[in-house]
Amino acid sequence: MNKHLNDDDLSFDEFDERRRLAPTVTGFEDVLDRAQSRRGFMKSATMFGSAAFVMSVWNAAASKAAGRPNFDFDPVTTNILDTVTVPSGYTWRPLIKWGDPLWADGAPFDDTNRGTGRSQERAFGDNNDGMAIFSKGGRHIIAINNEYTNRGIIYGNRASGLPETADDILKGKMAHGISIFEITDASGAWAPVIGSAFNRRITADTSFEMTGPARGHEWLKTKADPTGTRALGTFNNCGNGETPWGTYLACEENFNGYFSSSDPSYEPSDAFKRYGVGKKDWGYAWAKTDARFDIPKHPNEPNRFGYVVEVDPLDPTSTPKKHTALGRFKHENAELVLSTDKHVVVYMGDDERGEFLYKFISASRYVAGGDPSDLLDDGTLYVATFNDDMTGSWVALTPEATGMASKAEICIHTRIAASAVGATTMDRPEWVAAHPGKAEVYVALTNNKNRGKKPNRGGDATPPNGPNPRAENNYGQILRWRPDGNDHGAMAFSWDLFVLAGNPTQHNDGYAGSSNINADNMFNSPDGLGFDSQGRLWIQTDGKYSNKGDFAGQGNNQMLMGDPGTGEIRRFMVGPRECEITGLCWSPDKRTMFVGIQHPGEKGGSHFPDGGTSVPRSCVIAVTRDDGGVVG
Ligand code: FEO
Ligand code: CA
Ligand code: CA
Ligand code: CA
Repeated sequence: MNKHLNDDDLSFDEFDERRRLAPTVTGFEDVLDRAQSRRGFMKSATMFGSAAFVMSVWNAAASKAAGRPNFDFDPVTTNILDTVTVPSGYTWRPLIKWGDPLWADGAPFDDTNRGTGRSQERAFGDNNDGMAIFSKGGRHIIAINNEYTNRGIIYGNRASGLPETADDILKGKMAHGISIFEITDASGAWAPVIGSAFNRRITADTSFEMTGPARGHEWLKTKADPTGTRALGTFNNCGNGETPWGTYLACEENFNGYFSSSDPSYEPSDAFKRYGVGKKDWGYAWAKTDARFDIPKHPNEPNRFGYVVEVDPLDPTSTPKKHTALGRFKHENAELVLSTDKHVVVYMGDDERGEFLYKFISASRYVAGGDPSDLLDDGTLYVATFNDDMTGSWVALTPEATGMASKAEICIHTRIAASAVGATTMDRPEWVAAHPGKAEVYVALTNNKNRGKKPNRGGDATPPNGPNPRAENNYGQILRWRPDGNDHGAMAFSWDLFVLAGNPTQHNDGYAGSSNINADNMFNSPDGLGFDSQGRLWIQTDGKYSNKGDFAGQGNNQMLMGDPGTGEIRRFMVGPRECEITGLCWSPDKRTMFVGIQHPGEKGGSHFPDGGTSVPRSCVIAVTRDDGGVVG
């Protein structure tokens, strides 16, 4: 184990859980009763109502497998190796690693000091997550989120495993945000173009314009920005999105872990508590060098994070935007589609136990080649409610429905607004992915150990329900829905479960998983999702890799391919030790698939990708077929 592993190396969930302030609970006995009676129901011959339905769907579909997507690879068996494993006939190689310089004046990554503030500012950030490629005039630019840092790794050169100097803190801030750089395959394999005019780093200190209903609102005003229209920085950018007008969306997720209070008597408001903003940060220590992270000194600063941000990767001088219209929560990704009448629809998950699934619909219509500048600034935010009869609907978050004073307040206190309309509590919504060929949308519900046990942070009860049917859900599931009339603008939908992850070698009840899970393809905690151009669903995991107990035989985190028609799931990749697999995109010719390997060795047990005694580094890898065929 890494000697630096300490409280500050807890995962976001563990951190929030440990210091969680218990909400006022009403009717908890009711919650428990419902959960227990549900468990009793599940033990009966009927087992999981919704899972049983899903199985019947697949059996029917499997008999008419015509038109199924191509599964032309041999599945990879699970393992606990400290490397990436892909099927025979495929090869992987790193594209870029944390700390690799993007400009000629940058310094090569140094295993001894693990970089400085200056070297990190000129280099690829840490913990890469969502990403996308943009092309212009035969040139290709990749935009990649750098979600966070593992203190034990980035400060592994310090005895404490934590930032000890102002430059250490600067290094941490510069390791966050977004990395944008040109890539080329001129030499036969994709590589970064060092010093390209497109290369750009967006960090915790980059200037942003606030847009949407909350722009200029009282709650966004600070001493540094009395107008409430300019915010500094973006961080904890998790999944991503893309717009049809060629911009990149990055989603601010666990923003709460960066704020703290130098005043021990400071008491956070209920609204801050709902987002987990409290007195202690997560070990980043940014408040020590930048007072805006010290809450009592700048009490509105936390309201300026938790948004979807938009960047034009083809214009390195452009000012990125924070879109308050898309709501403030722990944004996972932003899946943008068009409704039948060409309104922009953005599906978004809020990744926390018992939080919600959202969509945004623009007020104006998208016109190819038209002015897109107000499309993400003006519209209506909706939250999902699910019925156990496999239907559901979107509820508009308006002042009338929520009892809140204005649209601006709804855009800042979105979780509170959604609770007010009775949204359905979910098992941590991670990535949303829309099928490219039909109106069908998938969301990874990664896990929720509190299901049936504890309310969410806002006090909403979380008994097992249709789309989240298992109490103490350590495995997760993938839910999908079809909007009525095949129109993403519709207010009603039907849903089913594509898969309930589980472990059939350890359980013979609902925790074994749905019928498309077996000992050869099992996994836990689906997270990243994405469709390729052939309509195949790629599933990335961020789960428990103990390979013991409930997780015995599941090995390291992995990437699988799912067939939306038959439900078949096949493992394509196993990652190195203690990583998660997250982020994927394809070269324009679809012959290279880029995949993110995040935080290998987060607990001190990996030297990926360079091996030996090297420092483990998050990286993006390029996967190709040895016969030069398409991989997406
Ligand atoms: Fe950054 Fe919910 O994953
Ligand atoms: Ca994720
Ligand atoms: Ca996750
Ligand atoms: Ca992660």
